[in-house]
Amino acid sequence: MNELSNAEARIENLINEINQHNYNYYMLDNPTISDYEFDKLLQELVKLESQYPQFRRVDSPTQRVGGEINKHFQTAEHIYPMQSLGNTYSREDILEFDRRVGELISEDYEYICELKYDGVAISLIYEAGTLTRAVTRGDGVRGDVVTANVRTIKTVPLKLQGDYPDFLEVRGEIIMPFSSFEMLNAEREEVGEQPFANPRNAASGSLKLQDSSIVAKRGLDFKLYFALGENLPENNHFDLLQKLHSWGFKKPDVLEKQKKLEGVFTFINYWDVERKNLPYPIDGAVVKINNFLQQQQIGATSKSPRWAIAYKFKAERVSTRLLSVDFQVGRTGIVTPVANLEPVSLAGTIVKRATLNNYSFIKDFDIRYNDYLFVEKGGEIIPKIVGVDFDKRLSDSQPVFFITDCPECGTALKQTDGESGIFCPNAEHCAPQIKGRLEHFISRKAMNIDSLGEGKVDMLFANGLVRNVADFYSLSSEQLIGLEKVIENEDGKTKTISFREKTVANILLGIEESKKVPFERVLFALGIRFVGEVTAKKIARHFTTMDVVANATKEELMLVEDVGERVAESMITFFNNTDNLEILMRLKDAGLQFEILADNTSASNKLEGKTIVVSGVFTISREKIKEIIEQNGGKNTSSISKSTSFVLAGDKMGPEKRKKAESLDIPIITEDEFWKIIGEI
Ligand code: IVH
Repeated sequence: MNELSNAEARIENLINEINQHNYNYYMLDNPTISDYEFDKLLQELVKLESQYPQFRRVDSPTQRVGGEINKHFQTAEHIYPMQSLGNTYSREDILEFDRRVGELISEDYEYICELKYDGVAISLIYEAGTLTRAVTRGDGVRGDVVTANVRTIKTVPLKLQGDYPDFLEVRGEIIMPFSSFEMLNAEREEVGEQPFANPRNAASGSLKLQDSSIVAKRGLDFKLYFALGENLPENNHFDLLQKLHSWGFKKPDVLEKQKKLEGVFTFINYWDVERKNLPYPIDGAVVKINNFLQQQQIGATSKSPRWAIAYKFKAERVSTRLLSVDFQVGRTGIVTPVANLEPVSLAGTIVKRATLNNYSFIKDFDIRYNDYLFVEKGGEIIPKIVGVDFDKRLSDSQPVFFITDCPECGTALKQTDGESGIFCPNAEHCAPQIKGRLEHFISRKAMNIDSLGEGKVDMLFANGLVRNVADFYSLSSEQLIGLEKVIENEDGKTKTISFREKTVANILLGIEESKKVPFERVLFALGIRFVGEVTAKKIARHFTTMDVVANATKEELMLVEDVGERVAESMITFFNNTDNLEILMRLKDAGLQFEILADNTSASNKLEGKTIVVSGVFTISREKIKEIIEQNGGKNTSSISKSTSFVLAGDKMGPEKRKKAESLDIPIITEDEFWKIIGEI
């Protein structure tokens, strides 16, 4: 044998061996080698595949670690449309479902009861036993192709075993277990990213990630519930699931055959309570007719099968005592009351705190100290207070009084415009507001100075080195080296950390690099109330320089798409404040981008050969749009003819122009679509 065929044979052996170990570990829960031995086999395979890429196979276990970068997901049409299930919250509907089934089929029938997994539906296509495509549900007809990402999920077999059919479509749910979810959110919060609201969003967000090696680390799992194909070997759902297990899929953890409706209700009642002990989220139970022929007889509507129904559980609810209320001051000065509750277990986690939102919330619910509050956790993982258990109210209970002075700086609080909220007006000197603005300024979507993350801003603030965002740009290494902070561990012990030279150099480099951040993000980073990332972008594009933005009138500001009265007024207030103007001067002197750079919008040939007619009102001036068209290789003309490539239509495009374009079949595209073509959004 020569070297090449040796390598090929070894790769083949390794793939088979590792796949078998994966199967033993993930499907059978019965590993036969140590993690160390397993890693050695995997490393050998990785090495051989990189030496001999011609022998790399799509069903190789190395695909599980990801690495492929998907710039955009392609979409694909489902071979069989992906229907959803009829939902119900009531037992009467289940009775009604059973009555309809009874009318349609004369012989006996059985139900299969399953859990309703709370994740993202997925279709897996196996051709000749190999996973060739994974597609999300999308609109049921077409979904996103997320194969590389799904290959990283250990419970999705890459290669089937045994007597599998030539073509097979397997459906199920991609879910994120609670443990992975909590870890992921903790990591996100640590780096200042928004945590996911619930495991379903986290699973869905993970599947849409562009780098599959990150997906591989997200701890996703696959739960099988359905399969399709020509000439499948079994005539009922239950047996087919067993067969799928023999081909390499994990058996559903919970699966029950029930001949009587009582059994179905027992199943539902049991899991409604027991779900809190499951390691992953479910939001109901699914009841299916077992026999395929009977399923066919019962049929389907255009949206969902009539032979199955989903019973959705109501949000879990407990009542627990309100111990005290904290008042937290946020970046914009808004004061949020937070309830400290007697710790209580709810849907798999211990709840100790929950937001009381604002003053009206407390007043409307008439919440008093020592009250028992109902706390719910539905699809959202964040517990919500939904009411007071008045039966348990003490006769001498005291209402929760809203504070009148800021708990942080003592300034008298004011009512917000909407009346429901209260805020501290001392924006300049109230510590959490200053720190909030500093944190916002360095955050990823703003100036992205990640070398200042992980509590470093706190440290700089505590040492009096930064009071506003311009101060970052005056920091020197002499000021920073040796700076100390005492931190308290969970066990109550304290330790002192201090900045070393390397950290300091890194911080200063990050600050220096931020001077290249484009104008629109600088505008967002200023933290002007109500000016989010997208609004900042639109304002920056419209006015193109900070000077023009700062001098714009309310009316001029309101010409920008998405800028209403509230945003415009907030902008005016910001730019009328002399402290802010001084900060802006210092930022400008430091060299931050205060205008849209010419090359931000130019230099591409994306519109080469295109003749374009621009009509209507845009978020930036029409002249600027025409300039951008030319910079990207396009040609502007004023009248529509057969040779027009497309019409770029803003708001209030002339009806005559539209009619003409339509009669000549000339495509009309929106401003958003235009930015997408240019690659700017
Ligand atoms: S069966 C043709 N079984 O719930 C019927 N679906 O609207 C195919 N789901 O989109 C669905 N657990 O993503 C089925 N045990 C289960 C399920 C389940 C969760 C999801 C599925 C579907 C939605 C129902």
